[in-house]
Amino acid sequence: MTNLNLDAFVADLERLRSEVKKALANVADTEALEASRIVFLGAKNGQLKALQKGLGKLGSEDKPAGGQQFNAVKKSVEALFLQASQRVEAPLKNTKAVEQIDVTLPGNPIRFGRVHPITQTIRRVSSIMANLGFEAVDGPEVEDQWHNFEALAIPNEHPARDPLDNFYIAVANTDRPLLLRSQTSTVQIRVMEQRKPPLRIVSLGRVYRPDTADATHYPMFHQVEGLLIEPGATMAHLKSVLRSFASSFLGGDVRVRFRPSFFPFTEPSVEVDMEWNGRWIEMGGAGMVDPSVLQSVGYDPDEVCGFAFGLGVERIAARRFGVADIRDFYRNDIRFLEQFHDRGQA
Ligand code: PHE
Repeated sequence: MTNLNLDAFVADLERLRSEVKKALANVADTEALEASRIVFLGAKNGQLKALQKGLGKLGSEDKPAGGQQFNAVKKSVEALFLQASQRVEAPLKNTKAVEQIDVTLPGNPIRFGRVHPITQTIRRVSSIMANLGFEAVDGPEVEDQWHNFEALAIPNEHPARDPLDNFYIAVANTDRPLLLRSQTSTVQIRVMEQRKPPLRIVSLGRVYRPDTADATHYPMFHQVEGLLIEPGATMAHLKSVLRSFASSFLGGDVRVRFRPSFFPFTEPSVEVDMEWNGRWIEMGGAGMVDPSVLQSVGYDPDEVCGFAFGLGVERIAARRFGVADIRDFYRNDIRFLEQFHDRGQA
């Protein structure tokens, strides 16, 4: 093995150091820096590695000194690389920071969604009725004829069962079609069938009638149905409940007027009007639950009595929000819908 002279080895080391210095002075970006790193410090073919091999060729008396020199140069070359990388990367970091947060740019506005005015109304009505002790209950929208008609004393020949006035749904192998419920009074029956009195319930939901859509009609709309079964309940209680409800909902003093009417499932029956800001409007129907209805759910009409009412949600929403045409609620024009915002509602 040819011996390598220590002076020549040290000279090679110095040359490498000054080459690194020169090369790094011209390096301007991370890619160029990486390229130099491979040339000089590469683990396989790097120039420092090549010099390290020369260490083995030194005479054994020169090895300690050669090793020291080698380590010193290696350290200083590594230091040069560290310096260079700090120089190349520092401005990069700064620009990135500036790009990320430009405090002078206007922020992106967050668009809040709104609850649909009908849903707002439903939530508000439920919470007012809850304060009056009425528990919210639900029922199916696809109903059978017992719950939509018969238990409510609406016999087969009654015009309310006309196929032109209902959305019947044919069911295979039976002549008893189901239907989309035409009123929420169905829920009175469902609850009374399952529970014993006393009862204070309110049910809010969709009902369906094949009406032509106009300013006050829509083939799908919502009703609030209230039912109270308690000993000693009278029409006077019915009126106070409706009046407290109306005052809480519309605000201020609301007058409630009953006009004699007819519903097969209440006796006596009334139409309910409310006066607010000098105008009377029709809100729905009500009355004392007919004894035959109590009988059909297995209650004893001699022992229990109560009242029921059904109001149109679209009507009370239109009244409250000053909407003239209920079709506007369902056109899905966000510019229209986003105007309505009851305080305390999401
Ligand atoms: N269900 C009736 C309707 O849809 C309203 C009503 C409910 C009347 C409860 C009396 C009692 O017109």
